[in-house]
Amino acid sequence: MPINFWEKLKKKTKPILALAPLAGFTDSAFRQICKQYGADVLYSEMASTAALFYTLGRVEAGRAVGKNAAAKILKNTTIKLLQFDRQAEKYYVVQMFGSEPEHFAAAAKIITEVVRPDGLDINFGCPVPKVVKQGAGCGLMKDPERARAVIEAVLANTNLPVSIKIRAKAGEVTALDFLKHISDLPIAAVMIHGRTHAQGFTGEPDWKMIKAARKYFKGVILANGSVNDLAKAKQVLKLSGADGLGLARGILGRPWLFKEIKKDKQIDLQPKAVYKLALEHAALVYKLKGKTGIVELRKHLVWYMSGLNGAAKIREQLVKVNNLADVKKIFSA
Ligand SMILES: Cc1cc2nc3c(=O)[nH]c(=O)nc-3n(C[C@H](O)[C@H](O)[C@H](O)COP(=O)(O)O)c2cc1C
Repeated sequence: MPINFWEKLKKKTKPILALAPLAGFTDSAFRQICKQYGADVLYSEMASTAALFYTLGRVEAGRAVGKNAAAKILKNTTIKLLQFDRQAEKYYVVQMFGSEPEHFAAAAKIITEVVRPDGLDINFGCPVPKVVKQGAGCGLMKDPERARAVIEAVLANTNLPVSIKIRAKAGEVTALDFLKHISDLPIAAVMIHGRTHAQGFTGEPDWKMIKAARKYFKGVILANGSVNDLAKAKQVLKLSGADGLGLARGILGRPWLFKEIKKDKQIDLQPKAVYKLALEHAALVYKLKGKTGIVELRKHLVWYMSGLNGAAKIREQLVKVNNLADVKKIFSA
């Protein structure tokens, strides 16, 4: 029986710091870097439950995943996206998105048995119109009955702890309405993005709403939104009364923010140390994904430069890198 790591963290770790899901950024290399800098929980890239259901679920749902089936599943693109390093990525949570309980049931079963992460998470907060239109992300939060059916389907198909990520409000449904509606279900943790669906990714999150959520939710509560530095982290923990934080854009280019919060001390990395870190990140990505990883890394490299003065010229070069040698050359010049 897998441990409920959320409960374990709740007893021992204050505040609990999570790398929030950031599709397109949170691959294994970046998660490992964040872990090295103090993240307690690492969210995966977003896994499409429809993709898993249509490619694998019809065959496998409802049955234990056998040896041959597992080999086939391992070649699946979504499953490949979810691979992780058990030692270097503790605790690792796979986030699923979709709209159909049946898809979630199949995906939860397959991910639990084949990927074997430490936890499963359900996305109720994605505001991307294409996702919402399908009734996923915020579209699912707006529909508490369907949302409940989705959570029940996941719980019935995994022995891993299940968490959810919601917004302060989607449609007419507030985070409080939502949590009240599912308060009898054994959900281990909730990350609340304190902005409404209408706010998207800007504006001040509603920390009071997160504080009020405690009344309806007994598990771990993580506050999320706009935490970009140590001072803000302290303010949010105080105002929200949360058990911890989900850090998203604030750690892009500065994963040491985890360490700053853990140690309650500001860290001013000199440019040379930032270059060294960016190079370590590049070497790790190259090891795991080869040249494709380096091209994908360009956006991270630009973020690393964002806090440095006079880095415009380096940035211009970084957006063109194609292999590890290119990155090494730029940082050693
Ligand atoms: C590029 C990008 C990708 C994201 N991908 C996901 C995702 O896959 N799942 C999810 O629940 N939230 C996702 N989010 C939302 C973040 O987890 C977070 O809730 C949001 O950025 C607010 O936090 P922040 O203000 O600290 O960035 C994403 C945000 C961004 C900017």
